[in-house]
Amino acid sequence: MSDTNEAWFARAQAVIPGGVDSPVRSFRSVGGTPYTVARGYGAYVEDVEGKRYIDFVQSYGASLLGHAHPDVVKVLRDAVKDGTTFGAPTPGEVLLAEAMTQRVAGLEQVRLVSSGTEAVMSAVRLARGATRRDKIVKFDGCYHGHSDALLVAGGSGVAQMGLPGSAGVTAGAVSDTIVATYNVVPELHEDVAAVLVEPVAANMNLVAPTSGFLQGLRAECDRVGALLIFDEVITGFRLAFAGAEQYFGVTPDLWCFGKVIGGGLPVGAFGGSKALLSSLAPLGPVYQAGTLSGNPLATAAGTKVLNLVTPSDYDALSDRVSGFARSLQEAIRSSGLVGLCPSEGPLVGLYLSRDETTAPSNFEEAKLLCDNGLYRSFFHAMLDRGVAFAPGAYEILFVSMAHSDDDLATTVAMAAEAAEVAARS
Ligand SMILES: Cc1ncc(COP(=O)(O)O)c(C=O)c1O
Repeated sequence: MSDTNEAWFARAQAVIPGGVDSPVRSFRSVGGTPYTVARGYGAYVEDVEGKRYIDFVQSYGASLLGHAHPDVVKVLRDAVKDGTTFGAPTPGEVLLAEAMTQRVAGLEQVRLVSSGTEAVMSAVRLARGATRRDKIVKFDGCYHGHSDALLVAGGSGVAQMGLPGSAGVTAGAVSDTIVATYNVVPELHEDVAAVLVEPVAANMNLVAPTSGFLQGLRAECDRVGALLIFDEVITGFRLAFAGAEQYFGVTPDLWCFGKVIGGGLPVGAFGGSKALLSSLAPLGPVYQAGTLSGNPLATAAGTKVLNLVTPSDYDALSDRVSGFARSLQEAIRSSGLVGLCPSEGPLVGLYLSRDETTAPSNFEEAKLLCDNGLYRSFFHAMLDRGVAFAPGAYEILFVSMAHSDDDLATTVAMAAEAAEVAARS
């Protein structure tokens, strides 16, 4: 009996707060016991009881090629033999930085870190240091990691827990954070160092930027001399071959990356022009550091993933996802519920409603749909049928390049049944 999800989660709860190392994994908003993953391969994860799920969590977007891609496993095996961390420069970090900067126009330099949180936190410090201004504008429902100044109105896990922010964050820590409504260009004052935005909001389920929003932010930042920061921790090298800049035709001053660039290992990065990045230590006065930054294993995996994918792979995945989104919507509608599956490139969201509604354009609208209670029973009905969506209504679905047409068709068929269960709930 020790190899059951129940048993592992009981052991976890004894030694790890809430049994999880990140609250979104806890099933708190959907109820029940999380499955404990024993292994993953391609589009699937298998739990400790040997049950297989078609996985749309994909480490919240860190796996672009699916789990344990053979080429990624091989580079990791090769890299590990040579040592895993040194505290000195390595070729691997140069190769990853080159792969990123060659792809994204205007991204001349990157500094590698170990998580998306660190990337955004450091980019904000750099923006403040470079502009000598204090204020940061973020948007309601956008998540930028769990650093103090940015947790306010954070979407995702914070919203799932029903929290406005977090205990332990001082008023001082957020006093320079201004929260604006997504899809409305705020009028900026000249004390704003930077505007931080998810180019596609993917932590309040999926809210796409309306036409002109990102262009408007660019123009408003230019008007007052503020920097525009794209938080591409989710969209980077996933939305398109070169990310959101290529997809929307808007160039930020600073980029933040994570997830995909680590190939499933812990990496983040922030970057921009050489001139801007020269404010960073050791060249400039903005301090930023990390013992494991640019880790050899993580850079080997990330570089491999970036080198394996081509622009046409993104086009193909986007086409498949838009077909999947349409079929998912229709399947849910066949149950009498309304399913909304907005998609943007390969990113796809899922809102459930009993009444006709339109796709949300901001957090207030998204919240109404995410908090209507329908997702909970839908989620469990999908899980019972071997399909793992994220255990929270504020998350999007991550379709990897390993998901086959059969996987997507099975998911649609299961969604029709699960929506009937949710409709009766
Ligand atoms: C847009 C965005 N920014 C930042 C982060 C934080 O990244 P990490 O969890 O790697 O610290 C996330 C995590 O989901 C994210 O979605």
